[in-house]
Amino acid sequence: METILRVSDLHVSFAARGGKIRAVRGVNFEVKRGEAVAIVGESGSGKSVTAQSIMRLLPSPPSRIEKGSIEFKGRNLLKLPEREMEAVRGRDIGMIFQDPMTSLNPTMTVGRQITEGLFKHQGMNRTEARERAVELLRLVGIPNPEKRYGQYPHSFSGGMRQRAMIAIALACNPSLLIADEPTTALDVTIQSQILRVMKEMQERFGTSIILITHDLGVVAQLCDRVVVMYAGQVVESGTTWELFRNPQHPYTRGLLRSMPRLDLPKGKPLIPIEGTPPDLLAPPPGCAFCARCPEAMEVCADRDPELVPVGPAGQAAKCWLHHPLAKEAVR
Ligand SMILES: Nc1ncnc2c1ncn2[C@@H]1O[C@H](COP(=O)(O)OP(=O)(O)OP(=O)(O)O)[C@@H](O)[C@H]1O
Ligand SMILES: [Mg+2]
Repeated sequence: METILRVSDLHVSFAARGGKIRAVRGVNFEVKRGEAVAIVGESGSGKSVTAQSIMRLLPSPPSRIEKGSIEFKGRNLLKLPEREMEAVRGRDIGMIFQDPMTSLNPTMTVGRQITEGLFKHQGMNRTEARERAVELLRLVGIPNPEKRYGQYPHSFSGGMRQRAMIAIALACNPSLLIADEPTTALDVTIQSQILRVMKEMQERFGTSIILITHDLGVVAQLCDRVVVMYAGQVVESGTTWELFRNPQHPYTRGLLRSMPRLDLPKGKPLIPIEGTPPDLLAPPPGCAFCARCPEAMEVCADRDPELVPVGPAGQAAKCWLHHPLAKEAVR
């Protein structure tokens, strides 16, 4: 399958009082056409900063992309003039945020907000755009879409707003949809309906998805692959099946024990990972998880390991336990 997005060696920092907060530190991952990739990790691990860097939505200053490239369909988004980037945002990559009110415009009807992109990027006329917008509202499960089309966001409930935002994000059939905790604020029924809509988009149109979530049940349901982030780095990645069944990084193992799994039978107690992530103003020289790691060795505090292959299906982990040199040393 064709790779549509390739994030390479991405470094993002924020200027702060005490220096630079190194929020993203050398992130690498890719997304293939029609594939759904989950990004998981504790709060503050750099998931949203990564997503917003792809969309180039971070204000600069204070943020700064220090290094790296984000190749989308063969073009480095970090090098595009802002005008071209605007077209990418409206047409090629859709984004859904946790809080729909941050991306919905309260002064425009929901219908207008959907048709705007259709006029601008698809060259539709008024009638065509209206028809398509109503169809989209119906697709995301908004009852009575003809009537809802002419209403403002404030007359929509929370779940409806979330759907309206999804309709906007999907309006131009983006080839990539980035969803940053799209259902966290919603009740379980609406949550699963929205996930179903996303799954349908993926199946019907071959839309690629990046899903950021704290819910491993959702990951199991929707995602083909998982990228695990810790302290601004990717510490493990692999197919959902391999990674859940056979996690290779001690952090991933801890994370799987600490997060709810709606896909598993009830009753397994959640075990939090002890300790806290490192200060990103001054990240440690060795592995960032070392201080919390039950399996840490001497080398872990001194040198940062690389992401190395650990399984047959492309699974990779950034851990000295799996480093060929460390294995030799142990022997
Ligand atoms: N505007 C900002 N100014 C300064 N630092 C920031 C800013 N936004 C993010 N950061 C830093 O970047 C780090 C990563 O933040 P990010 O929002 O990507 O975390 P996250 O993985 O999305 O967490 P969560 O699961 O809570 O959403 C944070 O720990 C914070 O230190
Ligand atoms: Mg976030």
